[in-house]
Amino acid sequence: MSFTVAIDGPAAAGKGTISKGVAAHFGFAHLDTGLLYRAVGRRTLDGMEPVASARALTAEELEQGDLRTAQIAQAASKVAVIPDVRTALVGFQRAFARRPGGAVLDGRDIGTVICPRAEVKLFVTASAEVRAERRYLELNAKGADVTRDQVLADVRERDARDAERSTAPMKPAEDAILLDTSELSIEAALAQAVALVEQKR
Ligand code: C5P
Repeated sequence: MSFTVAIDGPAAAGKGTISKGVAAHFGFAHLDTGLLYRAVGRRTLDGMEPVASARALTAEELEQGDLRTAQIAQAASKVAVIPDVRTALVGFQRAFARRPGGAVLDGRDIGTVICPRAEVKLFVTASAEVRAERRYLELNAKGADVTRDQVLADVRERDARDAERSTAPMKPAEDAILLDTSELSIEAALAQAVALVEQKR
C-alpha cells in the first residue's frame, strides 16, 4: 500500500530538511522534485533544448554534480514555466509517489498537480527575509561569492516566477496544512511535521 506525503512551498522555507527528516522518521523514500527542474535547467545552460532535455532525463542525472547553485536555481525556474517540460516530468514523480512503503515528495505543485490525493499535504512557508538569510548562510558555507542583498533579490524573483506562472503555479492545495517556519527552529518545524503525518497514518 502506498502512502504519500506532499510538501510544497517556496525556496529555503525548510522543505528539504523537513522532507528528509519526515522520510527518515517513517522509513519513507524521499524525492526532491526541484532537482528534476535543476537538472533540466543545467542542461539548458549547456545550450540544450529544455523539452527534449526533460524527456531524456534519467534518475542518475539527479545525482551528478552540484545542482544546488544560484545560477542553476534561476535556470530551473525558467524551464519550469514551460508546460511540456512539466508534463515530461509527471510520470516519474507519480511513480515515485506510489512506491510501496511510503514516499515524501517536496516541490511546488505536489499537493495540487502531481499528487492531488496525497494522504498528507503540507505547505511550508517563511518570510522572504528569513528564507534569504537561510539560503545566504547555506551558500556562504559552500564558499559561494554572494551578498545577502543578491540572495534576497534572487529569492523574490524566483518566488514571483513560481507563483505567477500559468501552469502549476506554486500555491497551497485547498486541503494543505500551512506550516510557517519563520519563527521556528528546524527541529521544532520537523517535530510539527512528524506529528501531522503521525495523525494521518
Ligand atoms: O526546490 P528548488 O529550489 O530546488 O526548485 C528549483 C526550481 O524548480 C523552483 O524555483 C521552481 O521553479 C521549480 N520547481 C517546480 N516544481 C516543483 C519543484 C521545483 O516548478 N515541483
